[in-house]
Amino acid sequence: MAPQRIDRRALPRHIGIIMDGNGRWANQRGWERTRGHKAGSKAVRKVVKACRRWGVEVLTLYAFSAQNWGRPDFEVKALMDLLAEFIAREWEEIMERGIRVVHLGELRKVPVEVRKRLLSLEKASRKNRDMTLALALSYGSREELLRASRNLARRVSEGKLLPRDLDLSTIDKALYTSRLPDPDLIIRTGGEMRLSNFLLWQSAYAELYFSKVLWPDFTTEHLRLAIVDYQSRKRRFGLTDEQIQDRL
Ligand code: FPP
Repeated sequence: MAPQRIDRRALPRHIGIIMDGNGRWANQRGWERTRGHKAGSKAVRKVVKACRRWGVEVLTLYAFSAQNWGRPDFEVKALMDLLAEFIAREWEEIMERGIRVVHLGELRKVPVEVRKRLLSLEKASRKNRDMTLALALSYGSREELLRASRNLARRVSEGKLLPRDLDLSTIDKALYTSRLPDPDLIIRTGGEMRLSNFLLWQSAYAELYFSKVLWPDFTTEHLRLAIVDYQSRKRRFGLTDEQIQDRL
């Protein structure tokens, strides 16, 4: 049977990826976990290019969670170094391919070198229109909601916002993702079936796809399969089949 092709007219607008399994990939080879992260950053490059080629509007990568700060210092440092390297190495291609880079997360905690490079790339790429690459870095969804709640509470206490005017879009706008569409498809590699504090509010109606493949082994073919699977799902957003048909 011929492999099913992606239907370019029904692509997920926004794909989020939880890139799990780097450590296990390295352990299986008797290597340090950090070698798994290095191999993982090569997989990142391929997946970004494929999304851009296929016409996915937004790709969000969970590069480093708010909880990952608790990992051993050498692993945190290796991950930060990899991010800095990735930005330097991919800069030209990101610009050539018209990719806009944005970050989601608490950048103040990130080492100044990485922060500076990332902010410079965001600035340089801000007018790019062909795809958005969102790097979730020092990101946690609960932390994001807490930050948004504090900001909104401050506006209420200053009399700038009335509690009765608070609605779903007020919260959307207070999140790091305020300018991004909600994710349509969330992929997690590495075999675990959980969201691990990733885009919890935004993924209310996302389709979830779990792959057993460890992140460094995840190829564009695996991504293609995930998208084909997504395209076989019926999304109803709480409505009935008939109502959805009427809208098409
Ligand atoms: C989870 O695997 C992965 C991470 C904590 C980091 C992901 C980072 C990269 C893929 C490389 C750098 C990123 C970019 C955007 C260049 P794990 O360590 O939890 O794996 P395990 O579950 O097998 O231990």
